[in-house]
Amino acid sequence: MCGIIGYIGNKEAGDILIEGLQKLEYRGYDSAGICVADEKSISRTRSVGKVESLKEKFALNKHKGTRGIGHTRWATHGAPLEKNAHPHSDLEEKIYVAHNGVLENYKELKDILQKKGYTFTSDTDTEVIPHLINMYKAEGVNIKEAIIKTVKCLTGAYGLAVIDKDEECLYAVKNGSPLVLGIGDGEMYISSDEIPLIGKVENTVFLSDGDIAEIRASEYQIFDINNFIVEREVNEIQNEAENISKEGFAYFMEKEIFNQPQSIKDSMRGRISKDNNEIIFGGLMDHWGKVQNATSINFIACGTSYHAGMVAAYNFENITRVSSRAEYASEFLYRHPVIDKSGIYVAISQSGETKDLLSAIEYIKKEGGTVMGLVNVVGSSISRITDFGIHIHAGPEIGVASTKAFTSQTLLLSMLAIKLAKDKGTLTKEEYIGIKNEILDIPRKIQKVLSCNDDIKKLAEEHSDKNNTLFLGRGVDYPVALEGALKLKEISYVHAEGYPAAELKHGVIALIDKDMPSIVLATKGTNINKVLGNVEEINARGGEIVMISDEDQDVFSHIPHTRISIPNTHPILTPILSAIPLQLYAYHSVVVRGRNVDQPRNLAKSVTVE
Ligand code: G6P
Repeated sequence: MCGIIGYIGNKEAGDILIEGLQKLEYRGYDSAGICVADEKSISRTRSVGKVESLKEKFALNKHKGTRGIGHTRWATHGAPLEKNAHPHSDLEEKIYVAHNGVLENYKELKDILQKKGYTFTSDTDTEVIPHLINMYKAEGVNIKEAIIKTVKCLTGAYGLAVIDKDEECLYAVKNGSPLVLGIGDGEMYISSDEIPLIGKVENTVFLSDGDIAEIRASEYQIFDINNFIVEREVNEIQNEAENISKEGFAYFMEKEIFNQPQSIKDSMRGRISKDNNEIIFGGLMDHWGKVQNATSINFIACGTSYHAGMVAAYNFENITRVSSRAEYASEFLYRHPVIDKSGIYVAISQSGETKDLLSAIEYIKKEGGTVMGLVNVVGSSISRITDFGIHIHAGPEIGVASTKAFTSQTLLLSMLAIKLAKDKGTLTKEEYIGIKNEILDIPRKIQKVLSCNDDIKKLAEEHSDKNNTLFLGRGVDYPVALEGALKLKEISYVHAEGYPAAELKHGVIALIDKDMPSIVLATKGTNINKVLGNVEEINARGGEIVMISDEDQDVFSHIPHTRISIPNTHPILTPILSAIPLQLYAYHSVVVRGRNVDQPRNLAKSVTVE
């Protein structure tokens, strides 16, 4: 949420910053700005809307300079207006700050500064920061000490990039919001994530909370809040440049949907031994005893990752017979839960930066619980604060609507479930091998599901005048129904609800009419005859029905419906296949409505505020 970029080196900073912001745009895109400095001057360009409009404006301003910072915004404090776009400056227009996060005590700080005569030009929480730095500098300390003093005043989450007209360096400060340094040859970057750095530098350094980095073109140093030098590990960038291009697809979401046979293979690579059928998770080896003896398994996540956690809770409880549940991280944290110290808490996140989840993990650890991570972004905050974990390895996901992360999360959690069930003896060796063989065949079956693309496109086009859609399912189909509804509403803005099919009769059925299609998931693992009853109820009220079910299912043939078949597989793996037609349906529903697929309004990919 909000993207920060910084550059210092020997090239024109402006172009580099804009290119970086375009790659970070999925983190927020309501306004953007950059600030560029040379030896004598510093200048800023800001613009409302996408980075493209900033680029056009910057081309007219032609500011020159080899260092600068930039920001793409997801508004928290203050509307998306130019005056609220970052970077924000002090009144002397010498110190500029780009901020990702939320300052909880900005009102108190603003009051103090206003009493001292500082005037404010924006509605943001961020603007207190350049004023505070200015205030401390005016008291006679150098820029680094002024930043340290300022940081000591701040409460909340922040990743900051700071530039001072009079200093040949940049500063990066991290507390709660992610920041990574890109280490080049005679040039350095600051970025919210690795993506803009791919193809630019080979090495990165992830900052830890409390770090303040002083960055020059050919060196950097990291300090703690007491001005003591701290060392941080240098990592090699692992992603390839093609992972962050659309590779001929119209949108990242489309690419990511069609990439799933491969992303699933990438997630399982090296994790199923050919010799002895073992499922191996390197990151769990030293902790397997804890997992094996867990008295409860608790999946905590947000958004789509939460739906993967719900699917897992159904599957784990079913086949391992260990009490399992899934909960939204935000709800979990604020209900002050009792932590099961002999249980396992599984934190699921694509980005590894979701603030609600980070806060929940901190709470669990403080209360003596054990947290396992299931995270896609290597080096992200969640991957570093969990006790141990599994990397999803689905490759970068850029489209705001999560697709391939969900299928890979569901796959890996199914693998973990059968590994645990085999060890606990709740699954026989034959059952285990049967499911394991089905897992190996999943990429081929995903490819088969993707071949229904044209039918789904046609359906989405037929539904282009529908403003409401219901997604229904029972058992493990229910979280998939929730995911289908989330996909549709978040990108196409069509009102959609996911519901347990049996709950229909407790109120929702009142909504059924010819203008409200019901997309019903009815796969083998669930009680098909009961779903049949629910479908009959919709049909009797003139509702349109779309069925997603296994290819050998024909109990619904007497009811008029549009059928989307998925290949037969083991029921615990069905959600990996049944989610894909729903992703395609959401995708085509946006395209047919002519809306922005990858950057839907009001959303951001990485939600770093609570
Ligand atoms: C945002 C994204 C969703 C994502 C959710 C959780 O809302 O738009 O696609 O599912 O955050 O993100 P995480 O990175 O923790 O999986």
